[in-house]
Amino acid sequence: MKTKIRVCIVGLGRAGRFHLTSIKNLDFFDLKYVIDPSLSTQDDIVQNNDFILLEDIEEALVDDELDAAIISPPTQFHFDCVTRFLKAGKHVFTEKPLGRSLAEIQTCFELSAEREKALFLGFQRRYDRNFRALKSRVETLEPVKIIKASSRDNPQPSLDYLKISGNIFHDMLIHDFDMLIFLLGNEPPISVFAYGHAYDEDIRNIPDLDTVMVTLKYKTGLICSIDTSRNAVYGYDQRLEIFGEGGMAIAENERDHTVQMHTSKGMEVAAINESFPKRYKDAYAAEIRDFGEAISEGRLSNVPRDECLLGHLLANAAHQSVETGAPVNFENYLDSLGVNLVGTTSFRPLHSGPRAASRPSH
Ligand SMILES: NC(=O)c1ccc[n+]([C@@H]2O[C@H](COP(=O)([O-])OP(=O)(O)OC[C@H]3O[C@@H](n4cnc5c(N)ncnc54)[C@H](O)[C@@H]3O)[C@@H](O)[C@H]2O)c1
Repeated sequence: MKTKIRVCIVGLGRAGRFHLTSIKNLDFFDLKYVIDPSLSTQDDIVQNNDFILLEDIEEALVDDELDAAIISPPTQFHFDCVTRFLKAGKHVFTEKPLGRSLAEIQTCFELSAEREKALFLGFQRRYDRNFRALKSRVETLEPVKIIKASSRDNPQPSLDYLKISGNIFHDMLIHDFDMLIFLLGNEPPISVFAYGHAYDEDIRNIPDLDTVMVTLKYKTGLICSIDTSRNAVYGYDQRLEIFGEGGMAIAENERDHTVQMHTSKGMEVAAINESFPKRYKDAYAAEIRDFGEAISEGRLSNVPRDECLLGHLLANAAHQSVETGAPVNFENYLDSLGVNLVGTTSFRPLHSGPRAASRPSH
């Protein structure tokens, strides 16, 4: 890369800070601004870093020298920030979720295509070495019959965060739906069924859920289950298992080391990683590196539009199923929205036939 990419970060909270670390470790980025209304020039993070602190995005939008923006404020600001930076001719990397509706998601992708500016999404699990290794083995297992995902948070996010997160479907399960799409391609399921519960009274009063189990059935017979909790006391628990005709593949949690200590009391192993900044540290770095490389190479996205739309609609369907207590016929659901995702993807179909098209690397 010849010239540095001048970038800003919008929102320097939990997500903004891991993006700051990634930017600082990549010599092809030059961080010009951080935009965060709750920071002051006296804060350590501002004192110890070399950027201009702004309260809002106006100055950054009109800065002709700025190339790109990393968007990580609370979810309700994503759409406004993404569209304004794209319209201003900047490349955009945004935290999930991209938009709160089909229309918002479509608008963002349309703007990206129209302005020829990258629109990257923070689905970092696509860059996680374990899940990538799992994906590369799917073919050996085909036809795939069962997928089981466990996705349990630790520590439980603050109530202030949860109140404005959207809900557990769009804030948390959106990652798991994206993983299914990443592993299997953009094939919609035929049915989505979910149960949910709020053990935590404060979460119940939002109102939101802290525990959800989703089941998806596909045309080929494949059945997937995803179980989610906002709080697993033993650590950040993110596992995936794929079972098929050819065998089984499991992506396990990360630990500091793999030593098993056997004594008269039994066996001990190191605890699993505490939370997402640790588990996905390398994945967060890889997604920002990919964003920088895409800008140089003229690539526009890391997650195709229809995959983003499918993830969003699966979150809606799972939510609807919990509300009604009934499965959602996903084909009818897509029809009712006038959405046809089948055939619009470059991904191969789910069955174990000859390849329809090669898959992108991520
Ligand atoms: N991909 C992941 O693993 C991951 C992990 C955590 C959060 N996230 C996403 O990142 C986003 C932020 O979450 P978080 O946990 O960092 O929240 P946070 O509350 O820790 O941080 C949000 C920051 O944004 C700032 N902010 C508020 N309004 C703003 C505005 N209008 N403009 C600029 N900055 C503003 C706040 O002052 C705060 O510093 C959420 O959308 C969330 O979904 C993604």
